[in-house]
Amino acid sequence: MRTASVAAPANIAFIKYWGAVDLERALPRNPSISMTLRACTTVCTVRALDDAADDVVEVADAGGRLGPASARFEGAIRAHLDRLRRWADSPGRFRVATRNSFPTAVGLASSAAGFSALTLAATQALGREPGLDEVAELARASGSGSAARSVTGGFVEWRLGENGESGELRVLADAAHWDLRNVIAIVDERPKDVSSREGHRRAPGSPHYRARMVELPARLEAVRRAIAERDLAALGEVIEEEAIELHLIAMSSRPPIFYWEPGTLAVLARVRALRAEGLMAYATMDAGANVHVICEAADEPAIAAALEELPAVERVIRDGVGAGPASAPPLF
Ligand code: DP6
Repeated sequence: MRTASVAAPANIAFIKYWGAVDLERALPRNPSISMTLRACTTVCTVRALDDAADDVVEVADAGGRLGPASARFEGAIRAHLDRLRRWADSPGRFRVATRNSFPTAVGLASSAAGFSALTLAATQALGREPGLDEVAELARASGSGSAARSVTGGFVEWRLGENGESGELRVLADAAHWDLRNVIAIVDERPKDVSSREGHRRAPGSPHYRARMVELPARLEAVRRAIAERDLAALGEVIEEEAIELHLIAMSSRPPIFYWEPGTLAVLARVRALRAEGLMAYATMDAGANVHVICEAADEPAIAAALEELPAVERVIRDGVGAGPASAPPLF
C-alpha cells in the first residue's frame, strides 16, 4: 500500500489563459505567465488501495475533519484519476483526501492548486516520477489549464507547444529572484456563478477578444522583461491592463459574464489612491470578484492595512511568491 501527500500552491496569472483551442483538453489559445503563491495551498493525500472496487474521495472541512465530497467534486476527482490510471496503465483504486487553506472557486485558482496536488500525489502513489513538463501536461489534462503552472515555483510561463498539441512550462525566475507579495482582498466568498471553463468557451465571441490577441505578444514580452529586471512599475502597469481586458472580454461575451462585485471596484479605486499616495500597488483579478494586489515586501503591511479598512473587504489574505509543491503530512 503506497501513500503520497503533496501540498501544491495556487498561482496568480499576470498574463491570463482566457480562451481555449480545445476545452476538453484545456489547450489554451495563448501563452500565460503566473506567480506561484505560497500561502494558498491544497494538500492532497492519495493512497493506492489493494483490492478495492472503487475510489474513495474525502474533503477536509475548515477544522480539518474529513467527510464525503460533493457529487460534483468527487466526479471531477474520479475523472482525473481515470486519466492518470490510463497514463500509468494501472487499474488500481485510491483513497483521496484534500484540504484547502483558502476559499474555493472565488477566483483564487483553487482548481489549479487542487489538480496540481492531486496529479503529483497520485503519480507518486502509482510509483511514477514524471518530469516537470509531463506533470504539467497531466495536471492540465484535468481541464484546469492553470493547474499546469502550479506544478512548480517562482515565476512561470506556460507556452504553446509547437504542434498545438501540448504546452511547455518555462520557469522565468525562481521564488528567490523577487520577493513579490500578493495581498488578496476578499470581497465575496461565494463560489462564482460562471465557471472559467464557460468563460473560455464564450471568450472568442467578444469583439474585444481579437484586439487582446494583437496586444498579447508585446504584453508577454513586457512581463518577462519586468520580472527579469524586478521592475514593479513596468510589471504593474501591464498586469492591470491585462486583468481589466480579461474582464472586458468576459463582460462583452455573449451572453455576458460579470465577475465583478461593487467591492471589486472599491478595491480598484483604493489601489489607484494608494499609488497616488506613493505606494507601489497593482491589481489583478482572475475569473472572480476578489482582487489580488501585487506589491513589494516593504509595502505589504501598509497595503494590507489600507485594504482591511474598506467596508467592502471581508478579509485580506497575505500571500507571496512560493517555491512550488512540497511533500506534506498525510491527511489520514
Ligand atoms: C482567469 O480553466 O485554469 O484564472 O480551472 O477555474 O482554475 P480554473 O480555470 P482555468 O482558467 C484560468 C482562468 C484564469 C486565468 C489564468 O489563471 O490563467
